[in-house]
Formats: sequence, structure tokens, C-alpha cells
Amino acid sequence: MLGARRLLGALRLCSSVSCPRPRASAKMRVREALRVQDASGECVTVQFFCYYRELTFGSSVQVQGQLVISQSKRQTVELKAEKIEVIGNCEAKAFPIKYKERHPLEYLRQYPHLRCRTNALGSILRVRSEATAAIHSYFKDSGFVHIHTPVLTSNDCEGAGELFQVEPSSKIKVPEESFFDVPAFLTVSGQLHLEVMSGAFTQVFTFGPTFRAENSQSRRHLAEFYMVEAEISFIESLQDLMQVMEGLFKATTEMVLSHCPEDVELCHQFIASGQKGRLEHMLKNNFLIISYTEAIEILKQASQNFAFTPKWGADLQTEHEKYLVRHCGNIPVFVINYPSELKPFYMRENEDGPQHTVAAVDLLVPGVGELFGGSLREERYHVLEQRLARSGLTKAYQWYLDLRKFGSVPHGGFGMGFERYLQCILGVDNIKDVIPFPRFTHSCLL
Ligand code: 4AD
Ligand code: MG
Repeated sequence: MLGARRLLGALRLCSSVSCPRPRASAKMRVREALRVQDASGECVTVQFFCYYRELTFGSSVQVQGQLVISQSKRQTVELKAEKIEVIGNCEAKAFPIKYKERHPLEYLRQYPHLRCRTNALGSILRVRSEATAAIHSYFKDSGFVHIHTPVLTSNDCEGAGELFQVEPSSKIKVPEESFFDVPAFLTVSGQLHLEVMSGAFTQVFTFGPTFRAENSQSRRHLAEFYMVEAEISFIESLQDLMQVMEGLFKATTEMVLSHCPEDVELCHQFIASGQKGRLEHMLKNNFLIISYTEAIEILKQASQNFAFTPKWGADLQTEHEKYLVRHCGNIPVFVINYPSELKPFYMRENEDGPQHTVAAVDLLVPGVGELFGGSLREERYHVLEQRLARSGLTKAYQWYLDLRKFGSVPHGGFGMGFERYLQCILGVDNIKDVIPFPRFTHSCLL
């Protein structure tokens, strides 16, 4: 049922005839009007006919009329306009969005203040909103407590040095040298704050903006992105963690598909043909699991030539991740047990095997590569103490060691890049098209 969207689109076309505004009580949202029709058992499709050619595309109008059963085969109801008022005329020549033209997403990116008015961005952003609600509802139904982790922090959780430092503008007079007395940054992850909370609430999650000063213009990196993070106490194996990750992905996607099927359909039809089938394939199969060591072996035996030669101890590059997913029949695949040197200080050291690995897990998905990153956390005081000492972090993370001193429990967690999730389900190639206002190197528009 495409009624509401078509009607809203058509409403933008209408007349320049003016009429008195109806009283507030007479107002009804188009969607609500259509719902009344739905309740009567009619399948409703609405199209509004425009007889006022002088009215330009993009104008905002107020229309009063009757929603009636249509005689046309292409729709089941239509709005018979009785009064039409132009609220805001649109300068059609200068308006970058043209009637009946399907503008490429790349073109629309130049107009972050106007692109949300197109069908494509409208659908993507409605899916984003539904997915946000679905994620909250998944965690709520699973007994997680939602924690607002801070945006400003003095930690570098990932230790990768991709921090934006925060200082007051030079106009603000601060009595001391620095505002917070310590260097403060925009958060790269809420994980360490969640670990604090998991000591009190067992299962916690956060879902908010995170920031990385990565000098990347890639199709899957932003300087500001949203991350969904969960932390679970009394978890002792990666298996348990992977179950939650797969559950979150599948339950959220099923909810989105049932709450806004038309918007998903529009993306699948006009932005990424074939994506519907690819998504069904992901949903109906159990996600696969391979170890990092197995992944390296698969890559070494690949007939494809990689720009970065795969070798044990080196990080997986995007080209490697994409190859591994194809190799696994385009089913999402968990890669587990990475070399310790590649991962941050908080990951739990594995005890078995000759190689030095940690209990880390990344989920790789078709079209995107890494979607989730997670691990068991090092809950053993002395092991963590040594790890921090080796990295020169002992002083900064005394409070983190305290969590192991005062009632430590095995625990683990993960983070999912929300924009990459939307790319994955909708088949949108560039991450800049699934966030309302993208921020990346050399660009901070609006
Ligand atoms: O793998 P990452 O760096 O993991 C963490 O930050 C952990 N502390 C999370 C945790 O365990 N609580 O980031 C998690 C995910 C990645 O898998 C990726 O999907 C996304 O965040 N991500 C980005 N998305 C967009 N732009 C970027 N620059 C991103 N960097 C990471
Ligand atoms: Mg990662």
C-alpha cells in the first residue's frame, strides 16, 4: 500500500488557489485518513490529481477534500480537492530536486538540507527510525537496562588514538589551564562505562553517537556514527556472546521488515536490486563461525590477488573480509580468536594453543565487511594488571582494575555500527546515505 507516500508526494504538486485555513480540529494526518480506509477492509491506494499547472513541484499546500473510492484501476481511492491553499511556493527552477526524476544518491548528498524530501532518503530515514525503536525493544524484551554513557570522556577505549579532543572555545575564560583538568575527548565507544554498569545491572546496553578521527573517505567509515553496544555479566564463552549478536541482528531486521515493508521494498527495488533475496538468505541461515587462523588459511589459498598479502598476525583488510563472506556463501560469518597484538588491552587472553590470541569476535556481513566487534573481557585481576603494565596504562586505568578487585565476574560485550547495519539490510553502498547528516574528513555540512 503506497497510499500515504504517493498522496504526500502529490500534495506537493497542488494549486495556487487560496482558501481559509480549516480549524485545527478539522486536521487529520494523511496516514490517519488512510488508516480509516484500511479499517473498512478496503485496500487503499491514493493518488491526488492536480489541475493547477502553475503550481510548482516542491511547494507546500493545504488541501481540503473528500477521500473517495476511485474509478481508476491504478488506485483504489482518490482525494477530491475542494479547497487548496499554497502555504509555501517553491522556486522550481532553482530547486535541485526535479519532479519524476530519480536522482542518484551521490547527487542528493550535495543537498543535506533538502534530500530528506525525496522518496529514497525518506524511506531510508524511516527505516532508520524503525530500526532504532526495534533495537530498544529487543534489549528491553531481553531484560537489558539502557544506560546513557557519556559523550565526553577521558578514556581512549580502543587505544587506537583516533580521538577528537574537546576544549572550550578560546573566548571562554577558564580559571585553570584546562576545563576538565584532564584531556577530554569525544567518546570512541561506551564500552568501559558499560562495564562499570554491568557490575550492577548484569545486562546493559547503550545506543548513541561515537566519534573517530579516522582519516578515511571510505564507503563504510564516518567521523561520527551511531553504535549499539551491549555488555553482559556471567558470560563465559564467545558462543554465548555470538548468540546475542545474531539474535539482535535477526530480531531487529524482522521487526523492521514487518513495521515498514514499503520503505524497505523501495530501497530494495530502486537502490539495490537483488538485495531482498540476499537479506532473506542471511535471515534464514545460521551464521557461520571460523577462527582468525582458519580465515588466514582461507585467504592464503584464495585465487584472488589481494592488495595486502594475508599473513598471521596482520589485521584483516576490507578486501579480505569481503572475500571471506563470499567464501562462506554470503552468510554472515563470525571470525574469532584474534592475535593479542591486534586487539585492545581489555580483551581476555586465551589459554590454549601455541599462539598468543584473545577471545575477540568480529561479525562480517555481505557488502559491508565488519559489522560487529566484541570480546570476552579480561576479568582476572593479575592478568589485566600485567597487560596494562605492558601498555603503560596502569595509572590511567586504576578504576578499571578496581572493577576486578571488587567482585569481578566473567563478562563480555560487543558493539554494532548502526549505519553499517542499515547498509547491510538495505543494500546502500555508501554509509553517507544512511545517516541524516554525515560527518567525515573534509566535510561537516550544516
Ligand atoms: O570494532 P569496534 O572498534 O569496537 C568497539 O568500539 C568496541 N569497544 C565495542 C564493544 O565491544 N562495546 O567498533 C564496533 C563497530 C564496528 O564493528 C563497526 O561496525 C562500527 O562500530 N564502526 C564504524 N562505523 C562507521 N564509521 C566508523 N569510523 C566506524 N568504526 C567502527
Ligand atoms: Mg573492530
